[in-house]
Amino acid sequence: MELRAQIRSVAHYVPERRVTNDDLSQLMDTSDAWITERTGIKERRFVDTTCAGTSELGERAARLALAQAGWNAQDVDLIVMATLSPDLYFPGVGVMLQQKLGCRTIPALDIRAQCSGLVYGLSVVDGYIKSRQAKKVLLVCAEVQSPVLDLTTRGRDMAVLFGDGAGAMTIEAVEGDGSHRGILDSFLGSDGSGAEVLCMKLPGTATPGFISADDIQQSRVHPSMDGKLVFKNAVTRLLETAGTLLKRNNLTPEQIDLIIPHQANLRINEMVRTQLGLPPEKVFNNIQKYGNTTAATIPICMSEAVAEGRLKRGDLVLTLAFGAGFTWGGNLIRW
Ligand code: ACO
Repeated sequence: MELRAQIRSVAHYVPERRVTNDDLSQLMDTSDAWITERTGIKERRFVDTTCAGTSELGERAARLALAQAGWNAQDVDLIVMATLSPDLYFPGVGVMLQQKLGCRTIPALDIRAQCSGLVYGLSVVDGYIKSRQAKKVLLVCAEVQSPVLDLTTRGRDMAVLFGDGAGAMTIEAVEGDGSHRGILDSFLGSDGSGAEVLCMKLPGTATPGFISADDIQQSRVHPSMDGKLVFKNAVTRLLETAGTLLKRNNLTPEQIDLIIPHQANLRINEMVRTQLGLPPEKVFNNIQKYGNTTAATIPICMSEAVAEGRLKRGDLVLTLAFGAGFTWGGNLIRW
């Protein structure tokens, strides 16, 4: 009998505080024209000072996803949480979510795959379900990134790109319902030679003394990136992922109803779309409103795509992601 991991619901939450490109140009030497032309971003959401961390955003998205699925927190038998911005250095944020939601003493694990958090997460959930270790899974992707950005001209190449937000999904084991819906395939990759091309080094155990006043002074506590190198790698790996998943499932790009790519740069997604020979309506983008919300990006897109009627039951969906690590991957899903 065919066992499938079927998505029951997807929901998202973003903080209310909108930060436009013009707002950022009050803080640093940048402009709406530069940011729009180079990235497609018009605004992003930042948490305010009352935010108690990533688990708070994750909890809000998770409660919406649970309600939509008609589940209560006690039904969940596995939490998978993806983030690069945990509440604490340790423990992971999955256990905080478990406690906040009032789940049973079920396993809660964290995924550190940055912008690939959702695609890695769906692959992990699929594995747990197919090996019969879980039946009702809550996958939550959340990020609070704004507090670690250098919001001065020194950090402008990174600061204009990122935002805060959360997405959550409920995923259930379904046996032989004949619908063929669910996660059909996943492809993942990584290349640690790119680890320091896009990273935040501090706080970290690789640095003697862990963290010093000078590190703070010299801005070594903020994320940094070689943007051009990341850009080139992103386009290559996203196309490789799409090609692999299409080929091994005997599909052409036209047979995909909707591609949901990570939102790092609209130009990256446009390059991937044109290489695949697809019209604009086949690729979902919302980077204009939220910037790059790292792991939270793809579930936020899914949630909006469902609400806008662009993602419907039975559709064939392809997710594609690339991010720090480098990590990359995708999932083929019958929605
Ligand atoms: N405002 C104005 N000027 C800026 C800004 C800014 N915010 N940032 C950089 N500039 C300047 C630079 O200083 C440079 O000036 P110079 O020519 O005088 O030296 C000029 O603009 C051009 O900078 P580039 O870095 O060459 O700009 P580019 O066209 O490469 O765009 C960008 C930069 C948007 C960062 C792009 O490289 C990119 O999107 N890279 C990929 C990002 C990505 O995919 N990230 C992966 C996911 S993130 C994750 O996993 C956590």
